[in-house]
Amino acid sequence: MKRDSAHMSARRSAVAAAATDYRVALNQAMQSHQAGDLDTAERLYRDVLERRAGQPDAMHYLGVLCHQQGRSDEGVRLIEAALKITPKHPDAHNNLGNIHKECGRLRDAERSYRKALECGPQHYNAQNNLAVVLEAQERLEEAFEAYAKLLQQAPKFAQGYYLMGMFLRNHAQSREHVEQSVECFRTAYQLNPRNVRALESLGMSLYALHRLEEAAQVYRDWLAREPEHPVPRHMLAACGAAEAPSRAADDYVREVFDAFAESFDEQLLKNLNYRAPQVLAEALGGVLPGVVGALDILDAGCGTGLCAPWLRPYAKQLVGVDLSGGMVDKARARGGYDGLEVAELTAYLQAHPDTYDVVFSADTLVYFGELRDVLDASHAALRPGGWVAFTVEAAEGEDDSVVLSPSGRYQHTRGYVERVLASTGFSHISIRTDTLRKEGGQPVMGWVVLAQRTH
Ligand SMILES: C[S@@+](CC[C@H](N)C(=O)[O-])C[C@H]1O[C@@H](n2cnc3c(N)ncnc32)[C@H](O)[C@@H]1O
Repeated sequence: MKRDSAHMSARRSAVAAAATDYRVALNQAMQSHQAGDLDTAERLYRDVLERRAGQPDAMHYLGVLCHQQGRSDEGVRLIEAALKITPKHPDAHNNLGNIHKECGRLRDAERSYRKALECGPQHYNAQNNLAVVLEAQERLEEAFEAYAKLLQQAPKFAQGYYLMGMFLRNHAQSREHVEQSVECFRTAYQLNPRNVRALESLGMSLYALHRLEEAAQVYRDWLAREPEHPVPRHMLAACGAAEAPSRAADDYVREVFDAFAESFDEQLLKNLNYRAPQVLAEALGGVLPGVVGALDILDAGCGTGLCAPWLRPYAKQLVGVDLSGGMVDKARARGGYDGLEVAELTAYLQAHPDTYDVVFSADTLVYFGELRDVLDASHAALRPGGWVAFTVEAAEGEDDSVVLSPSGRYQHTRGYVERVLASTGFSHISIRTDTLRKEGGQPVMGWVVLAQRTH
């Protein structure tokens, strides 16, 4: 009897020690995960699961981690398994929703966010995400209600005001909506002064309302606080209050697109009606009939990799280049490229003479005012017979000119594009107009351009 109770108590201590061990390992795993050391975190989560099969937190967070590493299907399986054990876990439903959303399965994402809200009605991240996926499905009234509910639930949540401001401006049906967006961006910035995107958006809304002097003042004040910040420097020039550079500075491009890449939600929103990759690829397809899997193609300014699926069928080698490391990371996770490089485009092209059959650039040369250098470098990077294909925003008028518009992007006249292409030695120049995306509810017209290096 005595021996039995000693045995039981030893067993109990061993069980207690194992339980403490797995909790310690789980904590360490979560710390490594938060610090971005994904390999260590994965090893520790798996260690926990070996000691304690089916431990739901370890499965849930390992699922999130798998998705971050591009193994989204495994991530979904793990979180679903965790939810079988703890079905009322709002964070797990929310994270499952995030994976679906980022994989483009908006209906599944919506279902997960609704479940998260059933389990935790005050879960404002889930409410925020629900609004985002409703907007992405163009269910605008429901999305508006969801954003309004979010602001009611979380009146100090800066990001909520920012997203509501974006919603109001992107889907504005009247001037009043744009005016309301101004208030939302001001509040978002007051609540979180580190949210410089709110300031940038504030300037854009003021511009949309033709209150250009007020927009310039926002950037002047910002520059006075942060004299080295590339965004107000660029945007002040875009408002006409400083001299425009010949192309957007490298630090401006990095700042804007690294931030953009971080925020997949907004990316999803902004991609609504974004057609440049498709329109440009279809135009290119018209001059490359029957060429399947045979070409060396550069996706010049590849961003998050949206062009890859359109280019892949033609490519033997598909290489993406972009200045923003954040965008390149997203492109890598999306897949489809044989190589990806973080580099400035003109310099990259100059370093690769006679290398490509196609230089393809969707919505990137809008960050270049003067096109001469980049087109010279494209010509040299192409093999004889190769094609450059790009889109730029259309400036009105018959003259030969470039403007940096208050949106921060350059606009080129057709005459300008034609002259520079011809003077760079390209032939078979084709320039046609198309809608590239919508901004503030209005179509943005662009030039869809093809030209060939013949010798
Ligand atoms: C609007 S995104 C378009 C991305 C992609 N082509 C697409 O259609 O989804 C513009 C991209 O151009 C890149 N970019 C702008 N200026 C650049 C430069 N000088 N060199 C390399 N990349 C540049 C930005 O980092 C950004 O990823």
